[in-house]
Amino acid sequence: MTTELNPEIGEPSETVTFAGIDRETLVATGSEWWRSAVIYQIYPRSFADSDGDGLGDLAGITSRLPSLKELGVDAIWLSPFFTSPQHDAGYDVADYRDVDPRFGTLADFDTLLAETHALGIRLIVDLVPNHTSWDHAWFKAALAAPEGSEERERYMFRDGLGPNGDLPPNNWESVFGGPMWSRTTNADGTPGQWYLHIFDISQPDLNWENEWVKAQFKDILRFWLDRGVDGFRVDVAHGLIKEDGLPDYTPPAEAGSMGGGAIPLEVDPDDLDSIPTPPYWAQDAVHEIYRGWNEVLNEYEGDRVLCAEAWVEPLNKLARWVRSDEMHQAFNFTYLTANWSAEELRLVIDTSIAAFATVGAPSTWVLSNHDVIRHATRLSLGPGHLQGDGIGPRTDDRPDPVAGVRRARAATAVMLALPGSAYIYQGEEFGLPESIDLPDEARQDPTWFRTHGERYGRDGCRVPIPWEAGAPSYGFGPADATWLPQPEGWDEYARDSQSGVPGSTLELYKLALALRGENDFGFGSVEWLDDLGFGTDVLAFTNNGVTVIANTGTTPVELPLEELGELLLASDPVDEAVLAPDTTVWMRSA
Ligand code: NOJ
Repeated sequence: MTTELNPEIGEPSETVTFAGIDRETLVATGSEWWRSAVIYQIYPRSFADSDGDGLGDLAGITSRLPSLKELGVDAIWLSPFFTSPQHDAGYDVADYRDVDPRFGTLADFDTLLAETHALGIRLIVDLVPNHTSWDHAWFKAALAAPEGSEERERYMFRDGLGPNGDLPPNNWESVFGGPMWSRTTNADGTPGQWYLHIFDISQPDLNWENEWVKAQFKDILRFWLDRGVDGFRVDVAHGLIKEDGLPDYTPPAEAGSMGGGAIPLEVDPDDLDSIPTPPYWAQDAVHEIYRGWNEVLNEYEGDRVLCAEAWVEPLNKLARWVRSDEMHQAFNFTYLTANWSAEELRLVIDTSIAAFATVGAPSTWVLSNHDVIRHATRLSLGPGHLQGDGIGPRTDDRPDPVAGVRRARAATAVMLALPGSAYIYQGEEFGLPESIDLPDEARQDPTWFRTHGERYGRDGCRVPIPWEAGAPSYGFGPADATWLPQPEGWDEYARDSQSGVPGSTLELYKLALALRGENDFGFGSVEWLDDLGFGTDVLAFTNNGVTVIANTGTTPVELPLEELGELLLASDPVDEAVLAPDTTVWMRSA
């Protein structure tokens, strides 16, 4: 295998190759499985409900594992199922070492893990280190303790500004809207100090300069590693450290609330440290924390993985999160937010592979998750939908469901042909669209409440998924109850409506995953095929001898079938060698 890397970050190249690693050795030793893995995100609330209370649970997940085996994924990532008051759907953890009774018990978790492993699938859990729930014993102790106490030092308490301390310590705005600070009340009823919360008022930020906090999280890692998990997805991995002095900051309007989004794709490595960085994102001192965690993972046998949720741009800065002594993967949100445009995708693919290769890490690829508009809807919308905003009944930009799912299938067929690791979000294998018309009173995302309905938030991508047509809750659980209402007309998306049906989105995913494995795409490389003479709307490359052609434009293009050989996969039917708009094919010469 070639180890040549593209030195020009961001420049479209003839060939970009996967990081210079010895693939044979890795496969022979079964190590570093995550480099090429397809990882399936389970959002436990909405995956499968075993007891009919309307909320998914661990036993429900266990019961549906065979369907994931059949789909062909390598690993699953579970969004939080820990003890939590659920003000942010479990990303507000009150006990990192236990399962919330709504989701089951630790014994249910052990069963799920054992059965996952028995099927040859790995399992990673979500670690939420930036903040706890306000129900966490540490925060309760901090509120009960006096100003300046050890307990308060574990969080970000500050005095307010102004003569009576009535004003928050700075002007930062929470990711979910409203101020990033809330004021406490002292035991005698007088107003007290303020505490920082990047997210909801119920999610106080921890102080990651504090040694006690650091030690606690190493123990939490060990708690789950001892149980046998294969790694962690790390929530807000760019947020833990705040700039000294907590200076005022107003983000540019075009930046997403999680950061990123307003930075050019390419920044000269020498200039990386001069790009504007919000004082609560991407501070240098976070890296030391991950070096410590890397050491903890290395105490364990087998390859355990840390995957960063870090909305950091440009990609060559994000690469710092996956240096060889830090994390192993980082979600590629630059790819997720790229438009359905061959030129843009090519640039992002080149830039991603090259940026991560500089530190020997694989690129990851992702199109949907529990925080963004599902790609079967998003890809038919115009620009300007920022992360976390969602869409709803009053959004002017109405999606086109037919074009959306067609593009989603084509986009997935591009993503799954790329080298590196790919993430799939539950329900995308059914072509599930965003639920747009949720009634206001059903919405639960804190964003909706904190912005007084100005931003819809993320509920639309979190609706419980359909398994069986015609069944109560489309087979999500034994009863009709679902924590968010499911729309009418989801029978066609139900898994059993698609299973074994040629051309269904489910069968497309299964085929793509099987071919990805057979052709070893995860360890392959991208070689652009400019000499086929397609226009700028067509993405054409080979990976390990398979040619991938995607038409992102509005006019059909002719496929030179004789040259390209056998059709392995088509995201939608291909008639007489004509590749219609919004279609991707995989072909292999005889
Ligand atoms: C990122 C998670 O993906 C999101 O769902 C959550 O609301 C925030 N972090 C806060 O934990």
